[in-house]
Amino acid sequence: MKIFIDTADLEEIKEAISWGIVDGVTTNPSLIKKAVDKRSGKISMEDYIKEIVKIAPGPVSLEVISRTSEEMIREGRLLYKKFSPFGEVAIKIPINPSMKEDEGLDFEGLKAIKQLSADGIPVNVTLIMTPEQALLAAKAGAAYASPFAGRIDDFIRTNLGMKRGHDFQKGDYFNYEVLHKARERKLEEVMEGMSSIREIYESKDVDSILKQGQDNGVYSGVDLVARILRIYRAYGFKTEVIAASIRNPRQVREVAELGVHIATIPFDVLKGMVKHYKTMEGMRGFMSDVVPQYRTLFEES
Ligand code: E4P
Repeated sequence: MKIFIDTADLEEIKEAISWGIVDGVTTNPSLIKKAVDKRSGKISMEDYIKEIVKIAPGPVSLEVISRTSEEMIREGRLLYKKFSPFGEVAIKIPINPSMKEDEGLDFEGLKAIKQLSADGIPVNVTLIMTPEQALLAAKAGAAYASPFAGRIDDFIRTNLGMKRGHDFQKGDYFNYEVLHKARERKLEEVMEGMSSIREIYESKDVDSILKQGQDNGVYSGVDLVARILRIYRAYGFKTEVIAASIRNPRQVREVAELGVHIATIPFDVLKGMVKHYKTMEGMRGFMSDVVPQYRTLFEES
């Protein structure tokens, strides 16, 4: 599995590269805003991005900011022309740039993905929330598809009435096993006393329980990634899946177990991946057991 770092913060990128585990970088307008705010707005954007592209050991994803296909194609080509001479660049295009219903922009993303890919520009399709969106991205020729695992987990919890920052924190592990067990238990309770299969099938209570703790048949962000991989493998699509919107080390483990091509991981989550209490405890033990006889081995003669 390749690891991309999900940040536009140059210091974080440099630090993670020094650990020898970074294969690429992903940015988005919100991550760029964070980097700009950190420098109180004093930044030459072009030089800043050039530096990221130069030091990155793999593709740096840069996102367009318009929403019609013509403009996204223009911006994608421009970003690519400006920065690809300095290293590998991928252009991020939203799968669907609509911000509300009936804007008429639903297919603008696909048109831009198709054209930029035909130009030979690697496209990273962003804001993927369903397996069917990922299927369309691959059909249009995307080099990468980025399912937003963490945001799907947030959405499922929000639909259960939980509030982020109050009932759960951004980095909390999403426990789909508990949700699964809770759903099964509720179903058994509600189904008790129902005598026919038809009665169960038509029951509004059963339907309502089945719909909770999931998003139209997607049971977690990791499940979203799993379903996309299954579809891509079934048809031999070359599009690489980037598990995005990663919130904690355990989520990284779960997408890695699926054999996802890439995970794009925030700096703090990367830092968390190396930690374990027993590792630290082990270190304390080994350090305190070093005998002088063994220490002599490390003395230069
Ligand atoms: C990366 O490609 C995405 O833009 C990023 O992972 C989104 O993460 P977030 O949901 O934590 O904002």
